[in-house]
Amino acid sequence: MKIFSRFAIFVGLGVLLSGCAASSPTFLNSASLIAGHEASLYWEIFIETLIIFILIIGAFIWIFIRDRDRCGKKIVPPQIYGKLAWAAVPLLAIVLLDGADFVAMARTMFAVAPPAASSQDIQLHVIGHRWWWEFDYKDQNIVTANELHIPVGATVQITLDSVDVIHSFWVPQLTGKTDVIPGQTNHMWITSDQIGEFLGQCTEFCGTEHAMMRIKAVVQSQADFDAWVANQQKPAAQPKTDLEQAGHTTVTTLCASCHSLNPAEPEEKTGPNLTHLFSRSIFAGGTYDLNDANLRSWLKDPQAMKPGNDMGVTLSPAQIDQLAAYLELLK
Ligand code: CUA
Repeated sequence: MKIFSRFAIFVGLGVLLSGCAASSPTFLNSASLIAGHEASLYWEIFIETLIIFILIIGAFIWIFIRDRDRCGKKIVPPQIYGKLAWAAVPLLAIVLLDGADFVAMARTMFAVAPPAASSQDIQLHVIGHRWWWEFDYKDQNIVTANELHIPVGATVQITLDSVDVIHSFWVPQLTGKTDVIPGQTNHMWITSDQIGEFLGQCTEFCGTEHAMMRIKAVVQSQADFDAWVANQQKPAAQPKTDLEQAGHTTVTTLCASCHSLNPAEPEEKTGPNLTHLFSRSIFAGGTYDLNDANLRSWLKDPQAMKPGNDMGVTLSPAQIDQLAAYLELLK
């Protein structure tokens, strides 16, 4: 029975691991120059340690078999004392391996050093909030949340700040991890060589919803990025029906202390910029897909969907209908 349960565990693990396919958000599925260098360094050190592991465990197994107790006959293996080589060879091996690792690491560090700034670079200000990400495109004069857009091949110079506690920004397939610290501006950069969507995550524990502080990075062609920027720069959609008008009034009164309807309103707001809310596919720090059903559940009881978040208003069913009608216009 035991053997069957073990077999089931192995099969289960196999199925689970097979889920780690090409879309898995790991730097080993590199979509950028930085992650590519990280992956090369990882494999170099992994293969090196695997060889050492096999040699050492192989030697152990060989000695265990060679010197095993044979039918009660005790075997005394050769006893070695005072041989300099037994200390010198491992020491030399450690020095050589550590030296090789140091060179590989230094080479990687130089390779991922930020390139010289150019006027073509995209300047992105990332701001950590509990528990969502704000993305402020300085030159394009737009602000968005949780979903980050960049053109393929472009160098994106990123500055990182936090308005509250320490967060950490990491989209493994695109770039290394950088802490986002209140009172200290950190810098990083991205150049992605692959069009696609890449997931990221806050990687510094920042409170109860730390795990729900996600990032979706959308790498797109220059033309698609330009179209995205042009859309984000537009003012918020105007209400047409009475229902939408009522929703608009609520957004510009009740919601306005935390949310902005100005596409360029910078980071000081408590909640995400709503100007083009429905151009995004996710909300609430990337916790949920953005659709009518999830939006209505959120408006009804945001604390049930993401306990501890800053949104604490109570809305009537009529207000929820009005808000949903208006917010869904904000493409
Ligand atoms: Cu922000 Cu963890």
